[in-house]
Amino acid sequence: MASAARLDLDGNAIKPMTICMIGAGGFIGSHLCEKLMAETMHKVLAVDVYNDKIRHLLEPATHPWSDRIQFHRINIKHDSRLEGLIKMADLTVNLAAICTPADYNTRPLDTIYSNFIDALPVVKYCSENNKRLIHFSTCEVYGKTIGSFLPKDSPLRQDPAYYLLKEDASPCIFGSIEKQRWSYACAKQLIERLIYAEGAENGLEFTIVRPFNWIGPRMDFIPGIDGPSEGVPRVLACFSNVSFNICHNMACLVVFFSFFLSLILLFFSHCRTFFVMSH
Ligand SMILES: NC(=O)c1ccc[n+]([C@@H]2O[C@H](COP(=O)([O-])OP(=O)(O)OC[C@H]3O[C@@H](n4cnc5c(N)ncnc54)[C@H](O)[C@@H]3O)[C@@H](O)[C@H]2O)c1
Repeated sequence: MASAARLDLDGNAIKPMTICMIGAGGFIGSHLCEKLMAETMHKVLAVDVYNDKIRHLLEPATHPWSDRIQFHRINIKHDSRLEGLIKMADLTVNLAAICTPADYNTRPLDTIYSNFIDALPVVKYCSENNKRLIHFSTCEVYGKTIGSFLPKDSPLRQDPAYYLLKEDASPCIFGSIEKQRWSYACAKQLIERLIYAEGAENGLEFTIVRPFNWIGPRMDFIPGIDGPSEGVPRVLACFSNVSFNICHNMACLVVFFSFFLSLILLFFSHCRTFFVMSH
């Protein structure tokens, strides 16, 4: 239940604010909306092209928070209403992105457009209207460690200087351009750089969040049940594929070793017979 008496670190009551949450209908957005409705008095302008993951917050209209959440079905690629919503809000949280690993290789253009080009107006409107921006980036912007390029038997692999990343000091190492898998990380990194530059040159107030892999309910869809059957599910389901492959491989190994073991047993049972007979 919402508590009106949330305090900041100085013990002052936090004033309710209006948050424009772009990508509110996704995995992280839906949980943020739930938390904001249940535990704060903040208002959310929820922007997304889908709302199935937050429908339970929008309907019925008799929820105690119903006057604090509004859904706006907007594709931020091309919708002039976006600036108005950012202007109405005190804070913008941008979660909108194509962020399914299977897409980085197969839809690199969409991935780059979604994570960089489509985020540009959000940054611009926040900067021009002096609105704070919380932008969701990714741990992928850390790239690879120097250590990962060392030969497998190099003793330097054990040296933390080669495998520990220092957030503000380590060089960024990505794969070559033809490795499309890095399209997501590079697009996210460039938008981070742009936000940082807006902060440095135009005074944009911002926070960058770089999640590692967060998992939980509503994180993904099950192809054919929650969406098109040709879709590729994200981490959890990909892990399931991996575990399926592991199980499959384990099963093959078990069959192989059972066969091998039975050959050995057969051999020894014959030897034993032989030994018995030789007695
Ligand atoms: N979930 C994780 O573990 C994780 C890890 C690293 C980074 N992130 C980042 O956090 C953010 C949110 O991730 P998520 O897991 O909630 O993803 P998600 O795919 O569940 O949510 C993204 C939401 O953005 C919406 N969206 C995309 N393009 C849009 C557009 N043009 N207009 C309007 N809405 C649009 C989608 O419909 C979706 O509901 C992303 O920026 C992602 O890169 C997430």
